[in-house]
Amino acid sequence: MTEAAVYDVENQKVNPGQRLAMNYFVAAMVLFAAQILFGVIAGLQYLNPDLLYNQLDFSVVRMVHINAMVVWMLMGFIGSIYWLVEDEAERPLVGAGLAHLNFWILSVAVAVVVVVYLFVQIGPGELQSIWLINEGREYIEAPRWADIGIVVCVLIFFYNIAATFMKGKWSGISGVLVLDLVALAGLYLAGMWFTPNISADQHWWWWVIHLWVEATWEVLVGCIMAWGLIRTIGADRRIVTTWLYIEVAMMFGSGILGLGHHYFWIGTPEYWLTIGGFFSALEPVPLVAMVVHAVYDSGRHGFKSNNHPALAWLIAHAFGNFFGAGVWGFMHTLPQINLYTHGTQWTASHGHLAFFGAYATIVIAMIYLAIQKARGDVWMSGDLPGNGWRWKWSLALLNIGVLGMTMALLVSGYEQSFTERALEGSTWSAYFQAQQTDWFMQGMYWRVVFGWVTTAGIVLLLWDLLTIGRTETRPIAQLPKLAEAVPA
Ligand code: HEM
Ligand code: HEM
Ligand SMILES: [Fe+2]
Repeated sequence: MTEAAVYDVENQKVNPGQRLAMNYFVAAMVLFAAQILFGVIAGLQYLNPDLLYNQLDFSVVRMVHINAMVVWMLMGFIGSIYWLVEDEAERPLVGAGLAHLNFWILSVAVAVVVVVYLFVQIGPGELQSIWLINEGREYIEAPRWADIGIVVCVLIFFYNIAATFMKGKWSGISGVLVLDLVALAGLYLAGMWFTPNISADQHWWWWVIHLWVEATWEVLVGCIMAWGLIRTIGADRRIVTTWLYIEVAMMFGSGILGLGHHYFWIGTPEYWLTIGGFFSALEPVPLVAMVVHAVYDSGRHGFKSNNHPALAWLIAHAFGNFFGAGVWGFMHTLPQINLYTHGTQWTASHGHLAFFGAYATIVIAMIYLAIQKARGDVWMSGDLPGNGWRWKWSLALLNIGVLGMTMALLVSGYEQSFTERALEGSTWSAYFQAQQTDWFMQGMYWRVVFGWVTTAGIVLLLWDLLTIGRTETRPIAQLPKLAEAVPA
């Protein structure tokens, strides 16, 4: 897709960082669509295991589904940061040319990795396959050549962002953001080493997976949320920054040792049962704070915003994060419960709601903010003539679709834990028996039904993103000033 197809290059008022951000957003949405496509295929393969068997096996479909997700979310985050960096630093992006080159290298590398996944689906697990084909670590399966490339790309990105802030202005938001990027990039290294000991391998792999989504990604979206609230509703910077500090402290306080909830059954010492159970049970607390913060601030401004779709998605993020990560995570985080639910569809239920609720939502919010400016700072509040239904319907269909899948998976997961673990005592045959029960299969069926709802949602979303604001002539709504003085 060309840039021109996405936004009006002649009339655009975006700065170089924002231009680059648009590229990242386009790439992210293409991968989001791919994620959904492969999700639907994987869901159908549960109902009909012969589907594409020996052509496009479930293992490969699932891998593309979740790796596309991780990459599109990271691209969405990178785009969001490039979008806000110049405004926040009050100076032009440092190294814009290099940053553009970086985008293309990264995108081509991602495409090559996916094509290799699809063409070389099976083969021996050798050092050569680790280097060239697939590293075999769920969610971050990229082969080592790509791993090294990713590290270089991330370093360039970090240079662009940190140097821009260093030459320009620092703020509370940018300070937290830059420190968080150091942690986020550093953690990726933990997922790059090979050891034949599966316990040791998993031990380090979780440093990436858990510490990303439950610590550094959460902090990152906290920064984006803070910035987004200032933009969409004119929230007071001092208030959002104070909230950000509180949330970050709580997030790291619980999320870092909360890592232990993945060390229950993988051959690590037993003390992790206590540490993991205790600290991960505290993890929902900062997520409650985030809901309170977002809703309180929006309510204080009477939900008057200059960008309704973006604000709606920011609120969807606050609730989605709280329910998907906080509530659905809490449900199975105590070792006494996890003993039964571990690795069942219960986990998949939580995985879907958490990733969608916490991360898909906020990237979509940022894209709506970006599109508004790219289309010439046009009106995007209520009363959108003609096509105002599209963003509302895509918001509804995507959220209902994912929530429906989550509930369906929960039913399957419940039945699976009950039959396989509680009744039959985790035997090999119980594993298969559980997955043939009626309740389990009905959940799998309903997952696909809601999968189609989700698919309809993304089709509408992409259509809306391509068109919203194009024919709008009214300028962006002015945010009302707060009547009462804001306490310091
Ligand atoms: C946005 C943040 C979060 C995301 C995106 C997320 C996502 C996921 C995903 C995808 C898995 C499955 C990993 C695998 O393939 O094995 C998982 C596992 C798990 N998550 Fe989360 N999660 C988040 C936050 C939380 C929180 C806050 C808690 C606890 C309060 C939690 C508790 C758990 C537990 C206990 C497991 C292990 C499940 C098992 O034993 O099979 N998660 N999470
Ligand atoms: C059309 C919609 C979708 C369908 C039909 C679908 C289907 C699937 C299937 C069949 C799996 C494999 C589960 C297994 O191994 O048992 C899966 C895994 C996963 N999907 Fe989706 N998916 C969809 C959309 C999404 C969305 C929107 C997200 C998040 C933004 C997402 C995140 C995940 C994650 C994190 C996993 C790994 C879960 C785990 O290992 O526990 N999916 N999905
Ligand atoms: Fe975790």
